[in-house]
Amino acid sequence: MKLHEALHIDLNEINREIENLVTRDKDVPKHSQLAQSILELVRSGGKRLRPLLLIVGSRFGPSAPGRRVLQLAAAAEFIHAASLIHDDIIDGAELRRGEAALHMKTGVLSAVHIGNYMSSRVIELLSKYTGDKNRYVHDLSAVATAQLCLGEYQQLAHAYDYSLTIEDYLEKSRNKTALLMATCLRVGALAAESSEEVAGILYRFGEALGMSFQIQDDLLDFTQSADVLGKPAGSDLQHGQVTLPVLFALEDESIAPAIRAIGPSSSPEEITHVLELISGSGALARTEQFSREILFEAERLAKQLSGYPAYSDLLTLLEYFSGRDR
Ligand code: FPP
Ligand code: MG
Repeated sequence: MKLHEALHIDLNEINREIENLVTRDKDVPKHSQLAQSILELVRSGGKRLRPLLLIVGSRFGPSAPGRRVLQLAAAAEFIHAASLIHDDIIDGAELRRGEAALHMKTGVLSAVHIGNYMSSRVIELLSKYTGDKNRYVHDLSAVATAQLCLGEYQQLAHAYDYSLTIEDYLEKSRNKTALLMATCLRVGALAAESSEEVAGILYRFGEALGMSFQIQDDLLDFTQSADVLGKPAGSDLQHGQVTLPVLFALEDESIAPAIRAIGPSSSPEEITHVLELISGSGALARTEQFSREILFEAERLAKQLSGYPAYSDLLTLLEYFSGRDR
């Protein structure tokens, strides 16, 4: 069963609201390349994980979920989609979800502008909720986008930096991935008028889910084939991304020198060799274990909300993020 089905969420409703973000912008002509590229992009699929998190969050407040929750959910997906446009340019990725990445179709310059428009459009949408009572909605645009850019910058600044610490890696992952997920749960809850305390627990729960998500994503670079990934295995390594499996493998002095030798001009053969060395070490199992422990923490946090009917949705999310139902 798909995640949205298990959570009883209608994806069509979310998709309609995402499309509205561009089709209802009176400043953007319907048939412009900008509008058409965005529509094509959002129609190309995606799990809508962040909107789903936001809607689950909204089930922890007394108010019935209304249009506002759907609009916030759409805004979260827009931020995410914009960040992936830029991410693919930065990573030089030709494919996204098995199809040509946007910059491959429009050229890099247009794609940069499209990504910028999408993240700014979110700020425009959210500004209509301005007011002391609704300050939390700005967390989506302000905190989440600033943290996303910061996380991406930290990643760039530490490319091929084999002296990176686990704390640096975790901070970068928190900024790049976990805080947007955490913010979705919190904003959803507050939009449904939950207490700050409940929203805070959901935030920490989402943060833990997001951290384990990023760690699992980093593992895929070692464990999945190019067809499944839509990019060559080892591409993180090639781009100098010092992820958790690499950090654990660096503790093994018999393979550390080969890892440290990876640089921007390493050959594909060298990358494959180092991939094999890392996969043959205990680093992948340690990484799995690290991710599992974060999910145990998420489970402990969720238990604090076991009195709510939507507690079962948190368990569904936990099961999904632990990879059993992916
Ligand atoms: C995926 O990383 C990328 C992110 C989670 C965030 C990227 C953020 C930016 C580029 C900052 C710009 C932000 C805005 C809002 C315009 P990945 O390369 O590890 O994952 P992948 O395998 O899906 O490419
Ligand atoms: Mg990428």
